[in-house]
Amino acid sequence: MTNSLRVRLLWWLLVPLAIYVFVTGKAAYDNARHTADLVQENILLASARMIAGEVEWSDGRLLVDVPPAALEVFASPYGDQVFYNVSVDDGRLLAGVPDFPTRQTPGHDAPNYYDADLHGNAIRAVGFVRQMYDNGAIRRVLVSVGKTQASRDAMLREIWRPQLVRMIEMVLLAVALACIGLTFELRPLLKVKEEVMDRDPMQLEPLRVERLHTELRPIVEAINQCIARLGLQVAAQRRFIADAAHQLRTPLTLLETQLQFARQHRDMEPTLSEALAAMQRSNRSMVGLTNKLLLLAQAEAADYTQLAKQKVDLAAIAQDVIEDLAMFAQKRDIDLGAELVESATIIGHEGLLSALVHNITENAIRYTQPGGHVTVAVTRDAQRVTLTVTDDGPGIPAEARSRVFEPFYRASADTEGTGLGLAIAKEIVHAHRGEIALGTREQPARGLVVAVGFAAL
Ligand SMILES: Nc1ncnc2c1ncn2[C@@H]1O[C@H](COP(=O)(O)OP(=O)(O)OP(=O)(O)O)[C@@H](O)[C@H]1O
Ligand SMILES: [Mg+2]
Repeated sequence: MTNSLRVRLLWWLLVPLAIYVFVTGKAAYDNARHTADLVQENILLASARMIAGEVEWSDGRLLVDVPPAALEVFASPYGDQVFYNVSVDDGRLLAGVPDFPTRQTPGHDAPNYYDADLHGNAIRAVGFVRQMYDNGAIRRVLVSVGKTQASRDAMLREIWRPQLVRMIEMVLLAVALACIGLTFELRPLLKVKEEVMDRDPMQLEPLRVERLHTELRPIVEAINQCIARLGLQVAAQRRFIADAAHQLRTPLTLLETQLQFARQHRDMEPTLSEALAAMQRSNRSMVGLTNKLLLLAQAEAADYTQLAKQKVDLAAIAQDVIEDLAMFAQKRDIDLGAELVESATIIGHEGLLSALVHNITENAIRYTQPGGHVTVAVTRDAQRVTLTVTDDGPGIPAEARSRVFEPFYRASADTEGTGLGLAIAKEIVHAHRGEIALGTREQPARGLVVAVGFAAL
């Protein structure tokens, strides 16, 4: 069926109306037919009675003189043909058409109505019996009168047609009113459409709901909520670009100064070498930042339905990351341990999951004081695969925990970093429809526990 609301609503209106018209139309027709039949049968019986009243004995014989009035009762502009037959039960015909299809149930004298066929004409007929007594003899005279149906059909039409016409007019009126009403009532919806179409891409004010129908309000309110979320998103993106630019500006400015310094000390070794080394550090930090920005963009764009095609083993990924970071842990004098199940298969992107484990484990190694312990564990049960990275470092104060997932947020300024590691981790977890939570250890009550859960395969 078409998708037009107008057409669909019209169908909802038209179908019950059509059923209604059909049912009442049928009832009206039955009524009209019943009335027309009754009238016709009454006339037939009156005529038959009149004829029967004229049957009399004359010299021991039955005679009838059919009165003109008995046939005049049928006078109508429709030219119906009238036939009659008066016969005695001994088979003698007193008057009328000899081959009239008489019908009378023996021993049953009540008027009997029936349909029959005479000379190719369909007729409605009545059989009426009059008993004649004479000198102890009883004779039964059967008077049958029949007529064609034209006037009866005309009467049926006259009773029924106007009702049908009235009903059809009502339906047409209802459809017309519904069409006008719908056009009128759909206007606010079209207004909303125009308002949305005419907007600038960055116009993020809510749509007006005051003059809308109650039924439309929730839709527009939902659109408004969507606009509000979009607004927040746009603001966050703008902030992100500003922050990223700011972050890049620092090493760039530094690089500029270092370049100037190097130019001034062009011929002075070892100052030149030191300046070049510093420039390389600045450059590395910019490359690192750019790589993280790219990774964040990649994580944000990752789509679960695409990831769903790949199965990966989180335990194997964790093992590789631990091997990668072993040197770094050793340099910082951190005891890096692993508690990994044999295999922990989940749906996901190997590169992104590797970055996730890397960022969390690297944080634990970097922020834990030398001599500390970091444990990377991957466990699984029937439903979930869980990665936990536990350290016994300073931990993150409760009030900062929700903020560390924001891009560029750093809880302490005395170490180096971009503040993007956990933001990337969060995006990767979301892209994999998992969840990430920060907690503290109970024994000893220091350090940080980062727990990430995914659906197990
Ligand atoms: N294991 C941890 N122990 C204590 N503090 C942590 C730990 N992990 C993260 N943090 C705090 O959370 C902040 C945000 O971490 P995040 O990984 O997002 O950024 P970063 O480590 O500063 O920079 P990046 O990882 O991009 O180099 C860190 O600056 C740090 O203060
Ligand atoms: Mg980090």
